[in-house]
Formats: sequence, structure tokens, C-alpha cells
Amino acid sequence: MAVGTVLITGGTGYIGSFTALALLDADYKVVIVDNLYNSSKVSLDRIEILCGKRPDFYEVDITDEAALDKVFAAHPDIDSVIHFAALKAVGESSEIPLEYYRVNVGGTISLLRSMTKHNVANIVFSSSATVYGDATRVPNMIPIPEHCPIGPTNPYGRTKSMIESIITDHVEAQRNNSKKEGKPFEKWNGALLRYFNPAGSHPSGIMGEDPLGVPFNLLPLLGQVATGQREKLLVFGDDYASRDGTAIRDYIHVVDLAKGHLAALNYLRNNHPGVRAWNLGSGRGCTVFEMINAFSKVVGHPLKFEVVGRRAGDVLDLTANPARANEELGWKTELTLEDACEDLWRWVSNNPKGYRQDPPEAFLKAAQEGKTLKASAA
Ligand SMILES: NC(=O)c1ccc[n+]([C@@H]2O[C@H](COP(=O)([O-])OP(=O)(O)OC[C@H]3O[C@@H](n4cnc5c(N)ncnc54)[C@H](O)[C@@H]3O)[C@@H](O)[C@H]2O)c1
Repeated sequence: MAVGTVLITGGTGYIGSFTALALLDADYKVVIVDNLYNSSKVSLDRIEILCGKRPDFYEVDITDEAALDKVFAAHPDIDSVIHFAALKAVGESSEIPLEYYRVNVGGTISLLRSMTKHNVANIVFSSSATVYGDATRVPNMIPIPEHCPIGPTNPYGRTKSMIESIITDHVEAQRNNSKKEGKPFEKWNGALLRYFNPAGSHPSGIMGEDPLGVPFNLLPLLGQVATGQREKLLVFGDDYASRDGTAIRDYIHVVDLAKGHLAALNYLRNNHPGVRAWNLGSGRGCTVFEMINAFSKVVGHPLKFEVVGRRAGDVLDLTANPARANEELGWKTELTLEDACEDLWRWVSNNPKGYRQDPPEAFLKAAQEGKTLKASAA
């Protein structure tokens, strides 16, 4: 029997699909809603190949409260939600901010309203280290702890910090209202998961990030340079106050990140903490040049790059202090940056068209047998 049933919004996307897999592996039942704006239903097939179980899927827009109501009504066993569905391109958020507020903030309000109508009381939310903004503006905040003051520097980050406040206010109100009515209040809980930089793919080589459009994260861009789909990587600024002048980020393997969601979900269901924020990062900072070197090593030749000016809204250092998640959730990263590079290379070199192609036969067979092949095995 399933330990519980969880609705995952944005569950066909990059982090959502890995989280669905982690939950199914831990014997949860999974229901996904996604409008496929930036993802493919093929991810459901890959989840099924890897764990032998398939999530239920509904093509639903997160802003459509009536459609969400129907999904909850069809699955009265859902007791928790993991909420990924969002627009996430930092640069684009300054060009079309209203769309970001409509989908991210408006979509979350529709979701919370629908959850409340159906008495679904736990929410795990995809926040971001972006909510901290430039943590170097405050003394002694690198690596960044959860008590670092919030200060997002772009509309995308502001949607995330607004949603954190909305979830906090909503859970608090539901707890207070339940207390007044003499009803159990502990069941209302929220986890605000502030991710650092998700990276990597499934070690099987059959599941990974497949953004529809131009990627804007460092590793997928490097992957495109390595496969020849992109001529060179643009490095935005080499005049930061870091060891080599490029910006510092904390890369976290997507398999570890998915397990972090499982740990937070279990914590909410077992410990009823109310609303709590947790950083999900490794605690290890890596510069852009260090990342280019690490990925070049895995690919086997140097990758071309060009240094250009700084990008507006970028900050010097986003390195996590993950102590709170380590201690309270019993979670820590197990995979390294080098693992992320190897797994990404296995995925992009064997699936240059992402989910728009079948993976090589040898990889499918190995995945079914739970084996990991070298990137060059096809
Ligand atoms: N990847 C990162 O670097 C990163 C870092 C921090 C936080 N996050 C957050 O994590 C979450 C997942 O990110 P990801 O990298 O997996 O991105 P993704 O684009 O792969 O996943 C988001 C999913 O949401 C879906 N979606 C978008 N708009 C929707 C709508 N209106 N209705 C229903 N579904 C919709 C997309 O189709 C996609 O499947 C997002 O909330 C993002 O902001 C991502």
C-alpha cells in the first residue's frame, strides 16, 4: 500500500520529474499536473522505465482553479502537494514581469484555494536561493544561512519571495482558524525549499533536463557547446571579487535535490512544524571557470568560451549553508559536482534531441537492469 498520495505541480519538468521518481521509489502514489509549457510527457515513460510505476497525469494550467478542483475531487487520497509549476527565466522575468506574477503568484493562489477547499494541508514549495539576492551586502552571510535577510534582485526572485509570504500567511491563518473552531490545526504545514543551482541528469543516461527553447543555466549551455549545438559559452563577467574573477555558485545534483523534497515532505507529515525554510545546497562554492574545467575534463577536450560583461541582477556568491537541512531533515548531498558533470555528459551526448528521440538501445536495456554505462557505451 502507498504511504501517501502527493500531487506534484510541474511534475513533467526537470526537477519535478526527478522528484516524482524519488517519491515513487519511496512508495508514494504520485499525481502530476502540468500544462507542458516547458516539458514533455515522455518524462513519464522514463520514470516508468526506471521504477516500474507511472504517475497519473493531467494536462492542467496551474492558474485554472476549476481544473485543479476536478483533480483533487478525483483523488480524495491526496494529502500533500509539491509545487514546482512556474516560469523560471530570470532575464525574461524583467521583460514580461506581469506574466511571471500571473503564473507564479496567481497560480500559487489558485492552488492554495483549491487545496483548502479539498482539505489538503501540506505544501512543499520550490523556492530559490535567488530570494537572498546579494548576500555579500550583509556581513558574515557566506555561506548563506536561512536567517540571511531576503532581498531578491529581479521579478522572478520577487515572485518566489512573495509566494513564500503567501504560503506563510495562509498556513498561519488556517492554523489559527482551526484552533478557534476547536479543530486539529497541526496538519497545516509548509516547506520553503531554497534551492541553489540544480545540475546533472539521471545516471542511467535516459532521463535529464530537456528545456523547450534556449537553456539559461550554465551546465545545459556547456552541454550544448560540447555537442556542437552552440559555438561557445558566454561568461558574464570575470571582474568579481572571487578567486578567479567569475561568479560563485553552489551546484547540487538533481538526484540529491529530489531526495531533499522527499525528506521535507516526510518531515512535514511527521513533525508538523508549521512553515519552515530550508536551504538545499552542498555548501561547496564553485566558480564559472572551475565548472568549465570540470566539464571539459569529463568531455575530454577544452570547451570554448568568451568573457563578456556582467549580467544585470547577477550576484557574486550564492553558496549555501545547508546545516539546517542536514540536521533537521537528515538530508545532505551525496553526489559531487564531478558526478553531475559525468551524468549530464552521458545524457546530452547520447540524447542530443532530449525527449524528442529514443535513447540508445544499450542505455534502455541497462536502465531496465539498473546498471550505469559509460557515456561512450552506445
Ligand atoms: N532549475 C533551477 O535552476 C531552479 C533553481 C531554483 C528554483 N527552481 C524552481 O524549481 C521549479 C522547477 O524548475 P525546473 O528547473 O524543473 O523547471 P521546468 O521548467 O523544467 O519545470 C517547471 C514545470 O512547470 C510547468 N509549468 C510552467 N507553467 C505552468 C502553468 N501555467 N501551469 C502548469 N504547469 C506549468 C512547465 O511545463 C514545467 O514542466 C520552478 O518553480 C523553478 O522556479 C529552479
